[in-house]
Amino acid sequence: MRIYKEKDYDAMSRRAASIIAAQVILKPDCVLGLATGSSPIGAYKRLAKQYQKGKLDFSAVRTVNLDEYKGLGAGDEQSYITFMNENLFSKINIAKENTNVPNGLNKDAAAECARYDKVIEGMGGIDLQLLGIGNNGHIGFNEPADSFADGTHMVTLTEGTREANARFFASLDEVPTAAYTMGVGSIMRAKMILLIASGKAKAQAVKDTVSGPVTPQVPASVLQLHPNVVLVGDEEALSLL
Ligand code: GLP
Repeated sequence: MRIYKEKDYDAMSRRAASIIAAQVILKPDCVLGLATGSSPIGAYKRLAKQYQKGKLDFSAVRTVNLDEYKGLGAGDEQSYITFMNENLFSKINIAKENTNVPNGLNKDAAAECARYDKVIEGMGGIDLQLLGIGNNGHIGFNEPADSFADGTHMVTLTEGTREANARFFASLDEVPTAAYTMGVGSIMRAKMILLIASGKAKAQAVKDTVSGPVTPQVPASVLQLHPNVVLVGDEEALSLL
């Protein structure tokens, strides 16, 4: 694992954006695995700016997002598809049909998860997977569990995760209790993984990820087994390393 310790959120975002930009320049038709949450917003802003300056072209890029809340869709302000449209897709020249997010409105979990796995497979593999990290070490919405899940599956969100994400909703009650998420296996099959982390609240999870035992109780710890992981964190997030 290569680790970049950056001063703060802005510097972390600059570094992450430059790594993603390099991927797009080196392989204009690359497949990007994308993430939501506060962590990637700064990097997405920088990528959009570079596109606007004519330095990046996303016309051949395809994307596949990690996860979506069950029960939310494009019409919902807090859905991850809305997040992606607002923070990135509407600001760059990516074709809508080249972007993929699990369909949280599909009530048939088995069908939606099977469909999404086919989407990922059909793309021929993810070149670069961007990941944030939950306070409990979750990646995507792969919460601490007894085993690592391979493919897309439905998860019940932990109370801690719902509380951490409640800031995006009017109240805790409105935070969905379940989500569809890409599995750890799909994440691990990406050629390169870019993990970003910012703030004190992530410090323990980052420490457990980098130097703790590999265990599904800390889902991100599995990244120790991946040959090409870059961790970009700010000083606070890396303070326990
Ligand atoms: C959510 C997302 C994760 C994200 C995590 C951390 O639970 N499903 O993909 O990494 O939150 O979010 P944040 O970056 O806002 O701290």
